[in-house]
Amino acid sequence: MKPYSQMTKAELETEQEHVLSLLTDARELHLKLDMSRGKPCKEQLDLSMEMLTDLASAKDCLAGETDVRNYGVLGGLPEARAYFAELLGTTPDCVFVGGNASLQLMYDLISKAVTHGLKNSPTPWKNRKTLRFLCPAPGYDRHFRITESFGFDMIPIAMTEHGPDMDYVEQWVKDPDVVGMWCCPKFSNPDGIVYDDETVRRIAALQTAAPDFALIWDNAYVIHEFDTEYREFPDILSLADAAGNRDMVYEFASTSKITFPGAGISCMASSPENIAYLTKLIGVQTIGFDKINQLRHVRFLQSKQHTLELMQKHAAILKPHFDVVLDALETEIAPLEIARWTKPKGGYFISLYAMPGTAKKTLSLCKEAGVTMTPAGATYPKGQDPFDSNIRIAPSVPSVEELREASRILCLCLRLTALDQLLKLT
Ligand SMILES: Cc1ncc(COP(=O)(O)O)c(C=O)c1O
Repeated sequence: MKPYSQMTKAELETEQEHVLSLLTDARELHLKLDMSRGKPCKEQLDLSMEMLTDLASAKDCLAGETDVRNYGVLGGLPEARAYFAELLGTTPDCVFVGGNASLQLMYDLISKAVTHGLKNSPTPWKNRKTLRFLCPAPGYDRHFRITESFGFDMIPIAMTEHGPDMDYVEQWVKDPDVVGMWCCPKFSNPDGIVYDDETVRRIAALQTAAPDFALIWDNAYVIHEFDTEYREFPDILSLADAAGNRDMVYEFASTSKITFPGAGISCMASSPENIAYLTKLIGVQTIGFDKINQLRHVRFLQSKQHTLELMQKHAAILKPHFDVVLDALETEIAPLEIARWTKPKGGYFISLYAMPGTAKKTLSLCKEAGVTMTPAGATYPKGQDPFDSNIRIAPSVPSVEELREASRILCLCLRLTALDQLLKLT
């Protein structure tokens, strides 16, 4: 098959008829497949079942002197703080261990900045006229929803293969209304980009006009390689400290994609002074998070090395899921030159760039044929992809067999929308 751009109008029309009939046949299958959210599949969840029986007696519930069944220890069990500190390459005094979701800690940080201000805020953010937030895009839809819900101006920052376009970031942070930035530095959602050392160094050394600038460093995929050896990632907290930005960074992580999403444990890491300031505020809303869950996680996961061994089992399950989709794209779409896509080594997503102006239509065709994907545009602030091109594929949940079907349908839909677009132009 030759590239669509090299086809005559007649050839395009013949191909359109052919693809349409294949898609009509596929619709008859009445499939119901979901590639919309990055979450572990059942076999992955099964890997952590042993954890649920770890605390069987009252004696098991003692962490040193602490009975984890009772109130207290707001900042998290020392064992859990040490566990996350090792994972992130920082020290336990920088770590606050929260509840079941890092997203909640992120929301809460922004919310507290608005209502009470951060440690270095001259005034709570609610008193400021304009609030701007830098949003590397495409990015994680739920990040953008948080800043959208507080009415911030969201400034899209282009992603490059090295991370966010730092020339723009360095210019934007000179604006005192720019109060923060979202980052997903390792296996970014959705592009799977790992920020390179130079980008991390430049981010750590940002000269921000806002004294309370909040760099949100969402390290959700810190140990989530599935197609390569684990690689250490620089510790942003010590780099920022060395660059004079001790209080700028708020790092987040969780065990959502290590054990059970929604029933794992999460953490926020920052300067000890920021952690002390925020712990005081958090102490108004809760007496403490779920320490039973913290203890069983620490007992089950043990250490970074032990967790990496578990992550290899996740990798062995995940990789074939990604391979099926990537193989289909390579065979069905690459020769036609109508899209490009990422080939991630970790994380949970493949990010596909369809012919500009066709992503929404492609996904609505997929839906009609029984394949649900993250809505087009979701990966951009306010759900608006300026090119209507990016499609986020989450291949973890469907079985390999189902993925074969779903990928076939996605490829047909990509072909059909590209053909429609090209025929409009001829
Ligand atoms: C970048 C990123 N951050 C955070 C989360 C959610 O993490 P948690 O379950 O800890 O709230 C996700 C989930 O997909 C994610 O992709």
